[in-house]
Amino acid sequence: MSAELIDHVQQYLGKNFPIKLISQGAEALVFETSKHPFDPTLDKEYIIKYRPFKKYRHEQIDRVITKKRTVGECRCLVKLSNMEGINVPQFIASDPHNGFIWQSKIGQTLKDGTFSNLRNFLWLNNNDKNAYTEEVKQVLLNVGKQIGILHTNQYVHGDLTSSNIVLQQEDCNGKWVPFLIDFGLSGYSTLVEDKGVDLYVLERAILSTHSLYAEKYNEWLLEGYKQAYQDQEDLTQVLKRFEEVRLRGRKRSMLG
Ligand SMILES: Nc1ncnc2c1ncn2[C@@H]1O[C@H](COP(=O)(O)OP(=O)(O)O)[C@@H](O)[C@H]1O
Ligand SMILES: [Mg+2]
Repeated sequence: MSAELIDHVQQYLGKNFPIKLISQGAEALVFETSKHPFDPTLDKEYIIKYRPFKKYRHEQIDRVITKKRTVGECRCLVKLSNMEGINVPQFIASDPHNGFIWQSKIGQTLKDGTFSNLRNFLWLNNNDKNAYTEEVKQVLLNVGKQIGILHTNQYVHGDLTSSNIVLQQEDCNGKWVPFLIDFGLSGYSTLVEDKGVDLYVLERAILSTHSLYAEKYNEWLLEGYKQAYQDQEDLTQVLKRFEEVRLRGRKRSMLG
């Protein structure tokens, strides 16, 4: 199945267009390429995200859904790149009808050879010596800040896992700068519920993948979030709802 899809992408882009599959999720195939879609003078590292048609869906409906999600993700990407203080990949191009988005490539290879998303970064530091260093603390504070700024601007991410946060090291000082990626489920929302759920999803992701140090990590994330959230009255409401979402989650898991 995936060979067929890769073939389709290769045909769409042209036979000799260099692509390398780097991720295959439920919704999308993600490729790396060294070519700009239409301007060879701008050739560098890019990401192509392709949402294939779902065979089990009616073709006409599927086209509408694919187009809607692709357009939605592009819109978020553009909107957020104009938002002060938010780091997201640069939007390059898209073909919503065929389910394609091009964006700049973020991140690099970590010391252990893995990709520099938050998940792998925390895994690399997953030992008593490195877990609580200033470097790790600053990364988590800054991730929290990114989410605080996002929510202050009435945007929610919708899928805040530690793989959807990518770190990029600054050349000048070696500092890790967090970027948010994957806006397929993101959008404008003023609802405290949506923001509370965003925080809960991230907290769960940290708890399940980095359980040994999760308590401190979540504390730092929340500290950064609070620092960046501008409207204090609104912040109180969001934190109250976050607590409620947590309780709901706990009840659910107790019921099994
Ligand atoms: N702009 C980007 N720069 C670097 N890597 C990316 C970028 N976009 C996606 N990726 C990689 O591809 C993976 C899947 O992309 P993502 O947009 O999260 O799609 P999915 O909906 O399948 O999770 C990411 O976890 C990341 O490793
Ligand atoms: Mg993702």
